Amino acid sequence: MKRRILVTSALPYANGSIHLGHLVEYIQTDIWVRFQKMQGHEVHYVCADDTHGTPIMLRADKEGISPEQLVTRVYREHTRDFAGFHVDFDNYYTTNSPENQAFCEDIYQHLRAKDLIAKRSVEQFYDPVKAMFLPDRYIKGECPNCHSKDQYGDSCEVCGKTYSPTDLIDPYSVVSGAKPERKASEHHFFKLSDRRCEEFLRQFTQSGDRLQPEAANKMKEWLGDPGDNKLADWDISRDAPYFGFPIPGTDNQKFFYVWLDAPVGYFGSFRNYFEKKGRSQKEIDEFLRPGGNTEMMHFIGKDILYFHALFWPAMLEFAGYRTPTKVFAHGFLTVDGQKMSKSRGTFITAESYLQHELNPEWLRYYYTAKLNSTMEDIDLSLDDFVARVNSDLIGKYVNIASRAASFITRLFNGELAYHSDTKPLVEGARASAFLAKEAYDAREFGKAIRQAMEIADRINEGFDKIQPWKLAKDPSKAKELQDVCSRCLHGFQLLTVILAPVLPKVAERVARDFFGMERGFNWNDASELPTRINPYQHLMTRIDPKKITALVEANKESLQPTPQSHSPQRHAEHQEKAVEAVTAPNFITIDDFSKVDLRIARIVSAEHVEGAEKLLKLQLDIGTETRQVFAGIKSAYDPAKLVGRLTVMVANLQPRKMRFGESQGMVLAASGEGPGIFLLSPDDGAQPGMKVK
Ligand code: MSP
Ligand code: ZN
Repeated sequence: MKRRILVTSALPYANGSIHLGHLVEYIQTDIWVRFQKMQGHEVHYVCADDTHGTPIMLRADKEGISPEQLVTRVYREHTRDFAGFHVDFDNYYTTNSPENQAFCEDIYQHLRAKDLIAKRSVEQFYDPVKAMFLPDRYIKGECPNCHSKDQYGDSCEVCGKTYSPTDLIDPYSVVSGAKPERKASEHHFFKLSDRRCEEFLRQFTQSGDRLQPEAANKMKEWLGDPGDNKLADWDISRDAPYFGFPIPGTDNQKFFYVWLDAPVGYFGSFRNYFEKKGRSQKEIDEFLRPGGNTEMMHFIGKDILYFHALFWPAMLEFAGYRTPTKVFAHGFLTVDGQKMSKSRGTFITAESYLQHELNPEWLRYYYTAKLNSTMEDIDLSLDDFVARVNSDLIGKYVNIASRAASFITRLFNGELAYHSDTKPLVEGARASAFLAKEAYDAREFGKAIRQAMEIADRINEGFDKIQPWKLAKDPSKAKELQDVCSRCLHGFQLLTVILAPVLPKVAERVARDFFGMERGFNWNDASELPTRINPYQHLMTRIDPKKITALVEANKESLQPTPQSHSPQRHAEHQEKAVEAVTAPNFITIDDFSKVDLRIARIVSAEHVEGAEKLLKLQLDIGTETRQVFAGIKSAYDPAKLVGRLTVMVANLQPRKMRFGESQGMVLAASGEGPGIFLLSPDDGAQPGMKVK
């Protein structure tokens, strides 16, 4: 029976680059989609950039461009990267679209009509300088536990304690540095705590195999037992200024929270796609309304399970839309057993992988070999990556074609012929293809690959045993030789069909260039007997391990990354994850620094100042001129001892009129918590007037 499936991958945030972690998801989904299409099913694979929210707004602000300009630029980067890894969306769109806005408003109005929207006042941190409310991640301050400075509002990265932003000592806004205020504002909530929602979600998550068993268990924990009332209402609004869709009837003062419009973006992208194809409203409804006899599958990472297994299905259910058929959650990528890290060079972007001339099909193959249907993390072990690709793809798979083809081309003019019973051959292939199909369909990708490699091993062993190079020397064995090689190449075709979802480019070349077909493979070709070949042309090279070393080197950053937890609870609390790249108030640019004119100065005279408790009056020679500076160093220095020594001064500080005269600069001195002031001095050889930089 022909299945009709709408498939999605999570919508990547439009404020960061696609990296190898993301690709676990997009490659996985792409493979599943290609596999289903090869079965002849009707599949629509849609995705989009997730463009709204505070981080994107602030980042655009910081770059001096509009959020629309930012998301347009990122769209180009994302689509380029996905294409580079052969991720073949049927439609890649944006959440900042009219289609998405219309769906959001419609869903909101329906929830309101069902009395599932509540309004309540919420007190939140507010940045009085930026005039905006601040998500928790934008507040920093001193940890109330270990007193480390500059810790986030939710937890301390030094001692690991979690707390709420109100517990921070001396909190400041990450955006402006201002001291945040508490301010109340009215928020809109989706009443998840409503009995109807709870009942629906209990049934949705615990029956019908919609979630993986681990995911269903997690949801059970979150839901508690009936009567526990563990589900809290969900805050779906944010105050202006916000990059997003205004909530109808709020005079552009309230906006839909990005996590409301993000999953709706699946629908926005789908509608955009179907309308572009000239499909009717009825056909759109077959996929988006209940009863359409279609499936909807979401591929997501385990960190966003909460949104896809609770909020999203509940929104859909009560707004009159269809709910997900399945939510497939996968684990996180680790590299060499550890979280991707910028300092170790393992936070590798899609772009840099491709720039290092690494073949995207290598990575597709490796991920596939490692993936299964659980939420376990998957590890990219770099040595294993090289070893496995070289041994499986080059040593086993490609090897079959190159060794068998040469005889057929040289001695049989490219003709394949089977001179013994082909029934077992065809039946064996059919059985293998069936097992691989079951594995792919159940997302047990690793199993499909293991099976393929077993087939490859068998073919290679058989080839070695028969020793066709000996048959080739004896003209009376020609038929036997042709038979052996034809069987091998039939096996190669079977393997290529099984690997086609993973290695789409290789499979395409094998079908058209090698077997001379006029189309790509579909699943039934697995058991077909090929009849001729063209001369073998190189299909894939080995990985040179040096390239991997170079890749890791190139991705090393001296800056420590901001640690980021991906536990679902934490994610649910801090719903916008990608904050780190946005604002860094602790940094100035080199241009900021070079505004300060620092000069070596010789102290030509130093004296006490009548009536000044802390000050000494200094005359400083900076080569071209002499400056008078009042310095607060009286407690630490005897003026007589200062005369003649060199120090560092700020030469372009705005002059200041003081009671005792004008101060035309500032000398630099160190001080700490305890007593003591320590004037800076340069190393031997420095001359008055030299620039310090
Ligand atoms: N914008 C949200 C999703 C909205 S869906 C309506 C988001 N974006 S993301 O860019 O942070 O992540 C996109 C997808 O990539 C998510 O499913 C996420 O789990 C996945 N991954 C991001 N980093 C990952 C790894 N390191 N490893 C595996 N998957 C990862 O979340
Ligand atoms: Zn701490």
